[in-house]
Amino acid sequence: MSDERYAVVGHPVNHSKSPRIHSLFARQTGEPVEYTAIQAPLDDFAATVQQFFAGGGQGLNITVPFKEQAWELAQCRAPRAQKAGAANTLYHNREGQLTADNTDGHGLVQDLLDNHGVQLKGARILILGAGGAVRGVLGPVLEQMPASLTIANRTVAKADALVALFADEAGAISLSACGFGAPDQPFDVIINGTSASLQGNLPPLCANVMAANTVVYDMMYSSQTTTFNQWALNNGAVRVFDGLGMLVEQAAESFRIWRGVRPETAPVIDALRND
Ligand code: ATR
Repeated sequence: MSDERYAVVGHPVNHSKSPRIHSLFARQTGEPVEYTAIQAPLDDFAATVQQFFAGGGQGLNITVPFKEQAWELAQCRAPRAQKAGAANTLYHNREGQLTADNTDGHGLVQDLLDNHGVQLKGARILILGAGGAVRGVLGPVLEQMPASLTIANRTVAKADALVALFADEAGAISLSACGFGAPDQPFDVIINGTSASLQGNLPPLCANVMAANTVVYDMMYSSQTTTFNQWALNNGAVRVFDGLGMLVEQAAESFRIWRGVRPETAPVIDALRND
């Protein structure tokens, strides 16, 4: 059987770890998957997607800066992608409609729960940032029924807008928005979803948000400790994780959607750590 074609589309895309992750999944599961990276022109994402599927491609992952456009382009959206406003997975459903899903939030939750044994049910969670990355994960995080979810952002109005958008999903969960300086009580889990640490910047948090048992999770990943996790360690955090596990878990969920087989993630996370 010849391999079926999958790819990640982004701009730039040459740094993407997705081809490596999916080729490890294919080898592990024996699924006939060929997975490449495609750089779409900034002004012609839709044509790139159309050409890929017209040429027999089976499924796409979508990365920066096209996740919102992928969501727009789809004729059909998985429920968890609806509120996310962005898609990282495209495929055709049984009716032949271009379908969008978002597996990022699933990846985050799976990494916290399964790989790190972190309980989210009943937890007091602080999430930093209110951009696309945070919007993409709020639904799956709220589904875990934390006691409270506080969204802190540099631009408070954007955090306010997310609180309004997710009020229905939150139900009885206390969902609130604020600036970085406001929270001064310890949280059980702190998730950094800002892109600040990409530029080596830190959200100016009060160190009181951290207690010895606080779990800190940076959605960014890096071969070194991220700027945010280093700050957390310097301020008493003991358990800090970066987003490599989230990256592999979101990929595994895309693979499951496309192939109906869920790969084991632990060996793939280990392999990437050792690359
Ligand atoms: P992404 O898709 O990565 O979420 P985004 O939608 O541009 O990208 O959002 C970036 C997030 O990082 C925002 O929450 C942004 O804060 P603002 O909403 O105030 O712009 C946050 N961010 C980026 N640079 C930052 C910095 N230097 N300090 C603090 N927050 C920063």
